[in-house]
Amino acid sequence: MDILFSSTTFELSSGVLRGENTESTVKQLAQLQGVFGDETAFRTMNQSKVIYEVTSHMQVTEGKSGGLFFGVSKIHPGTVGNEYFMTKGHFHEKRDTGEYYFGISGSGLLLLMDEAGECSAQRVVKNSLHYIPGNIAHRLVNTGGDMLVVGACWPADAGHDYDSMLERGFPVRVCRVSGEAALILNAEYTP
Ligand code: F6R
Ligand code: ZN
Repeated sequence: MDILFSSTTFELSSGVLRGENTESTVKQLAQLQGVFGDETAFRTMNQSKVIYEVTSHMQVTEGKSGGLFFGVSKIHPGTVGNEYFMTKGHFHEKRDTGEYYFGISGSGLLLLMDEAGECSAQRVVKNSLHYIPGNIAHRLVNTGGDMLVVGACWPADAGHDYDSMLERGFPVRVCRVSGEAALILNAEYTP
């Protein structure tokens, strides 16, 4: 029997994931309609600007019970108005499925929200580890000046529910106020 090398590599220090069974998706500003609070600022920006990229290693078919996916998200630095670039955010379609996130480089926040709308935030930095329990919506926000790079591992049958997120949204927005990141209640947010 031969001892083989894996044909996929993951470089811990940079977050570069490449090789067999990996695929990348890019989210440009135009695909994030309705996500940011300042619609005027949103409209005036270059709609093809890349806000984040996700590379995932998917060795099993999506939906396979007992399978796992592994991925790396890179959220670019920047703001729409004064609101930091962030991911769309989602609940898992199969609600009771958890996920691990871990910080690789950069700095940001992980916003978490339960189905009742209760929200909390965790700082994401190099080496921080985050367990996201089932039934919790999650979103990454880049509050730093560099790329925020975050690794993740989640069940292959979790799926992603973006629609409930867009309908309700997180109750807080992460904004730059006097040069610092601040959590602003969505109800009190004025662009
Ligand atoms: C997978 C997961 C991450 C996100 C990625 C992009 O369950 O949580 O891989 O998919 O950070 O964020 P969304 O999916 O919200 O656009
Ligand atoms: Zn997820």
